[in-house]
Amino acid sequence: MMEFQPVAKRGIKVPKFSQVPKHIAIVMDGNGRWANKRGLPRVEGHKAGEAALLDVVAGAIEAGVSELSVFAFSTENWKRSPEEVRFLMGFNKEVLRDRRDQLNNWGVKVRWVGRRPKLWASVIDELEEAQRMTKKNKVLTLTMCVNYGSRIEIVDTVNEITQLVAKRKLKAGSITEKSFGKLLSTNPLKDVDLFVRSSGEKRMSNFLLWQSAYAELVFSEVLWPDFDRQELWRAIEQYSTRQRRFGAAIDSPKG
Ligand code: IPE
Ligand code: IPE
Ligand code: MG
Repeated sequence: MMEFQPVAKRGIKVPKFSQVPKHIAIVMDGNGRWANKRGLPRVEGHKAGEAALLDVVAGAIEAGVSELSVFAFSTENWKRSPEEVRFLMGFNKEVLRDRRDQLNNWGVKVRWVGRRPKLWASVIDELEEAQRMTKKNKVLTLTMCVNYGSRIEIVDTVNEITQLVAKRKLKAGSITEKSFGKLLSTNPLKDVDLFVRSSGEKRMSNFLLWQSAYAELVFSEVLWPDFDRQELWRAIEQYSTRQRRFGAAIDSPKG
């Protein structure tokens, strides 16, 4: 297993950003293509993606980001070959076990968001152990989205609401955007400020749809295994040039 640098990387200075997003969501995409380009099987790309994730976590801490949510396995990824699915399950488990001490030392609070059905029990165990170990940490919350899908998250929440209404714990017709958001599995995560996707694909692929309603989108051409803290900072730099309006308007006829 490769050794990683401590948080600060020698010779690399964190740029001064005019605005730092509080919550960054990342679709870590392009592992398979990275491997195939090198004549390697897809799983080699997943392996190479581990270093990118650790470097990005370090870079997010250095930039002063407080919440980082990463898409590690989607509810649609079960459509892949049994070999790749099996590899990804085992690999997620190993990464969590190997990296939790390091993340803990960095003050990272690890959280799992996703569905239980189908997910390997051993992966759930590692996710829950990492959560337990790091629950008091405050530097950065790293939400690992494993067996996560945004539409099913919303549907699960609707079903929970209908149960609460049936049990008379909730008044029919009383749900608001705010109370709905609190019932989503991501709660208490804030809305996504910056949504990043690597590998040149320009779509959201069912990741944090509700939470990203007003997120700034940045698409990077870099394949995930080549992604690093500097590429994250480039995305933050783009973010800091954007003007967020949330539907409101700014009237400045003189420019
Ligand atoms: C992202 O890389 C990792 C997961 C979805 C688990 P991909 O495996 O989707 O790589 P590409 O998009 O096929 O290159
Ligand atoms: C999204 O990437 C899921 C993860 C990165 C875990 P995909 O590679 O599965 O998405 P599509 O199929 O290209 O939309
Ligand atoms: Mg992909």
